[in-house]
Amino acid sequence: MFSLPLKPLSPFTSLTPKPLNPPKCSKPQAETERGLSFDVGDTFFRHESSTGRDLGVLSAAIYKKSHNALRVLDAMCGCGIRSLRYLAEADADFVLANDANPDYGEIISGNLEKAGMGKERWDVKHSDANRVLTERYLERDYFDLIDVDSFGSESSYLRAAISAVKLDGLLYVTSTDGYSSGGHRPQHTLAAYGAYVRHMPYSNEIGLRMLIGGAVREASVLGYHVVPLFSYYSYHGPVFRTMLQVKRGKFPIKRSSVFFLNLVYKSRLFCFKLLIVYFLHS
Ligand SMILES: C[S@@+](CC[C@H](N)C(=O)[O-])C[C@H]1O[C@@H](n2cnc3c(N)ncnc32)[C@H](O)[C@@H]1O
Repeated sequence: MFSLPLKPLSPFTSLTPKPLNPPKCSKPQAETERGLSFDVGDTFFRHESSTGRDLGVLSAAIYKKSHNALRVLDAMCGCGIRSLRYLAEADADFVLANDANPDYGEIISGNLEKAGMGKERWDVKHSDANRVLTERYLERDYFDLIDVDSFGSESSYLRAAISAVKLDGLLYVTSTDGYSSGGHRPQHTLAAYGAYVRHMPYSNEIGLRMLIGGAVREASVLGYHVVPLFSYYSYHGPVFRTMLQVKRGKFPIKRSSVFFLNLVYKSRLFCFKLLIVYFLHS
């Protein structure tokens, strides 16, 4: 008699945990974003991130117009879509496209070549982001805009990124650590961002404030201060992004930072109307 060689199901099959937010590798295919064609190959690429890319490119374009110069360090470039957009849409003079994965090299270079970007305008590297940033800092080769589009928590790249950006330059940083901003591991957020984050109903805003707060502290250690220009939260990931301008001199401890601490510690005591009153009078 014919029988199929089926293995019995393990009693633990249904209990096997699925990985949280596994990185998706796209199949080799041509993509288009804001009229630009590129290949994603097997790199990490998400269409949902296009708004975050738009905001970075818009800021870069404004910077170029006002400073008449724009050198960008795309520290975690994936397939190189940001690098391509900074060159094509913001008219960057030069982009250093870095991704730690050397297998992405052909895709990145191919995308920049196919779009007709002159080779003197870009370079591709495959190093750890902290190494590239620190090398540029040691060479005193500072950039006008540094984009760090990392997975998870951004905090370990903040200091090197702040060191490698020009004074008055832009730093575009990301966190996808929704678990921390949701207050599920306060010890971790304390270590990573200096913020003891508890579970609160407005965790999306907290995620952004946590990221900005971490950058404020790292800049202060180096004798600088950062000014947040805009912040952006997106549900996918989730993704927290903020564009910071790095300025000379430490940030004086003023009521804005004290206010934030108060807000976090007293969060359970405020209703919305009281919060507005508190804002108006602080
Ligand atoms: C979120 S993806 C980047 C997506 C890309 N910026 C975009 O807009 O499509 C993060 C990338 O960082 C790279 N990466 C991860 N750790 C890194 C590190 N320590 N240094 C440099 N690149 C890293 C990964 O290979 C991955 O391509």
